[in-house]
Formats: sequence, structure tokens, C-alpha cells
Amino acid sequence: MKILVVGGGGREHAIIRALKKSPRCTEIWCAPGNGGISYDAACKAIPSTDVAGMVAFAKAEKFDYAVVAQDDPLALGMVDALAAVGIPAFGPDKAAARIEASKVFSKDLMKKYHIPTAGYAAFDDPAKVMEYIRAENKYPTVIKADGLALGKGVLICQNEAEAEAGVKEIMLDKKFGASGNHVVVEEFLTGPEVSVLSFTDGKTLKTMVSSMDHKRANDGDTGLNTGGMGTVAPNPYYTPAIAARCEKEIFLPTIAAMQKEGCPFKGCLYFGLMLTAEGPKVIEYNCRFGDPETQVVLPLLESDFLEIMLATTNGTLDQTEVKFSKGAAACVILASGGYPVAYEKGKEIFGLTDGQLPGAEDVTVYHSGTGRKEEKLVTAGGRVLGVSATAATLPGALEKAYKATGRIAFEGMHQRKDIGAKALKALEH
Ligand code: AMP
Ligand code: GLY
Repeated sequence: MKILVVGGGGREHAIIRALKKSPRCTEIWCAPGNGGISYDAACKAIPSTDVAGMVAFAKAEKFDYAVVAQDDPLALGMVDALAAVGIPAFGPDKAAARIEASKVFSKDLMKKYHIPTAGYAAFDDPAKVMEYIRAENKYPTVIKADGLALGKGVLICQNEAEAEAGVKEIMLDKKFGASGNHVVVEEFLTGPEVSVLSFTDGKTLKTMVSSMDHKRANDGDTGLNTGGMGTVAPNPYYTPAIAARCEKEIFLPTIAAMQKEGCPFKGCLYFGLMLTAEGPKVIEYNCRFGDPETQVVLPLLESDFLEIMLATTNGTLDQTEVKFSKGAAACVILASGGYPVAYEKGKEIFGLTDGQLPGAEDVTVYHSGTGRKEEKLVTAGGRVLGVSATAATLPGALEKAYKATGRIAFEGMHQRKDIGAKALKALEH
């Protein structure tokens, strides 16, 4: 099969590498892709949000299947548009993608179907938001922009002044554009966070191995929120008992709710969970694979990835094997100095041959933001590389990943040194 993967980061690189293991995958393309991905797939420089351009390209090149991996094209209806020209695609249609693209939609869905989540109220009038926050008088309070905001539309406010500044930033200054026309004010929850990705065809849901993201820029979970600085899988907080509870109280009810609403979800549904004292609650849904969760989840997948993807599209997931190794994986992100705020690009990357680390067993370097300039590999984004390793145990995987990052260098390179530290501590108990 000739396959097109839409996107151009570490997640898409991991998806491509996993698809290439499938005997039925005979040709693979990535649009727009990036410098490092171009070692593994033919790349075509079409922006992932250019739905018309992507569909025209897919049609002209006669792709058999497409994988839409990013939130924006999913929210724009790229899966619907591809289907309209006869190209089946992995991912939810526009109506189902609202589960991530609109916080108001997802919160209302959870409320209606009694799916545990943080208490909330939704608003479109800035004055009413502050009225509500003052009346509640409970801090910290959480303010979320309704739409997609690159994971940055969530503000945790410690007091009234911070809340006022936050409301102004989102609703008046429109820092996240039209995303800020509506906001959700949420109760602040505490507890360990777990990412659970699942495959679903709208009726059947099969979970992947659990994982833990590290969202803050610096060690000890300090600094600004980022897209994710590293991940480990499995997540030791996600015990079999908690998994059973999540399945019953969250996963299956969500799939059933989307069916009842007339927008069955197909593709990868990502559950961002918080394990609170009252039980597991949904912090957010994503309508796609996580980045960098994918870089630890897919290396542990033992079943045929392409067959699973096709089954989610065809509605045959109940007859398809989804099996993961019992081992562990760790991914450490190498970022440009200054990320997630201001950073320079175009720095030469040292240590890699054809994008990979020669001789590093069980290690894969996934490219998030790299470019090729003449014969050189250079940085081209905030998150540059994800160095991912697998082993029988989590300490083994972390050791391999960190040993590997020690062999890579570029000017201003920043990495967290404590990826997995919290997970290792949890394993001790
Ligand atoms: P989101 O983009 O919705 O995943 O939010 C980003 C991060 O903000 C989450 O990973 C949590 O760490 C934090 N967060 C979001 N909502 C809440 C909440 N209701 N209570 C506490 N922390 C939250
Ligand atoms: N790593 C979090 C996300 O992909 O949304």
C-alpha cells in the first residue's frame, strides 16, 4: 500500500517507522515531513493545514491510505475531505475531532454522560467569567481557551489578579485567536497524571500501553509548559485496578457517548487522566496520538500497526490483535535553548549518521524539528530530537536513552535530566 502521513514532527516520525515494519506498507510519504524524516519517507512540503492542497496531492499521487496525525488538520476536516475523493484515512472526522478541538464540547459531553472530570462552567462573556471566579473564590482556578492553542491555552491562576490577567489575555487580547471566544473555568485537581492512548473504530476500543509525559521545561517540573520534554512507558501509577476502573467509568462511556451524539470516534483517542483521591478523572481528550507519548508507545507495539489502523477505519477492530511488549521505553527530548519561548534555528547537529546513532542498540532518534542543509543536519524547531530507547525495565530504558543523548550535540541544546525520575520513585513503592 502507498501511504501518506500528514504532519512533520517526532510523532509522525515514530508513526512512519512503525508503519514501515508492516509487510503491506510498500511506499511511504510524509507531508510536510522534516529533514530527519526524509531519511525514512519521501517528503512533500505541503503545510499540514492546507486541506485542499493535501487532498489534491493525495489524489494525484493515488495514495491507498492516509494517516492524519495532527490536531489542526483533523479539526479542519481533512479526514472527511480525503474520504470525499475516495482516500480512506486514519483519524476522526471533523465532527468527532471536536472532542479535542472544543473544550466546551468535551466538557458538556462528559457532564451529560457522567464521565468523571473536573467541575466547570463555560462562558462567552469576559465579565461573567470574573463574576463566577469571584463568587467561587477557590484558588488555584483553571481557565482554558475553548479551541486548539498548541497545548498552551490552559492557565492555572493562583489568585484573583492572575485570573483577571488570564481572562484578559485569552478573551480580550485574543492571545490564542478565536480559540478564546469561549472559555471553560475548571476546578483545580491534583494527583499523578497518566496518558492513555487507545485505538477505536467507534464501537470497540483497545488501549495502548500507558505513558507519562513531562510537560514543564525544566527539572523538578519547573519552568514553562511545553509540548512535552520527555516520556516513559508504562506509567507505574496506572495499575491494573485503575486501568479496569478507567475502562468502565471513562473509556467505554466516552465511545458510547460519541456514538449517541451521532459522531462516532475513529482513530486514536488520547485520554489525559489525573488520578485524584476521588478516582481517575479526565483532564483532557486529544483526538490524535500524543507527542512525545507516541515515541515511547509505538516502539513497544508488537502487533502490525498498519493492520490496526485499517481496522479502526473499517470497523473491524474487534477482530484485530493489539499487543504490546512487557518491556519499557523512555524518550528524552533535545530542545533548542530558549524553548518554549524564543530560540534560534539552523544550528548544526553533531553525532548522527543518516539521522540515527550508529551502534546504539534499541535506540531510535525521532526527528521533531530538523532540516537538511547541504550535507548537514540542522535544528529547525523548538523541540529538535526525541531520543527513545527500549529495554526490559524502565531503569534500563532510561540508562540507554541518556547514554545516547550524551553522544548528540548542537549549540544551545537543552534537555531535562530527570525524565522518568518520578516514575522510578513510584516503582519503589
Ligand atoms: P491540557 O492542555 O488540558 O492537557 O492542560 C495542560 C496541563 O495543565 C495538564 O497536563 C495539567 O497538568 C494541567 N491541568 C489542566 N487542567 C487541570 C485541572 N483541572 N486541574 C489541575 N491541573 C490541570
Ligand atoms: N504530549 C501531550 C500532547 O501531545 O498533547
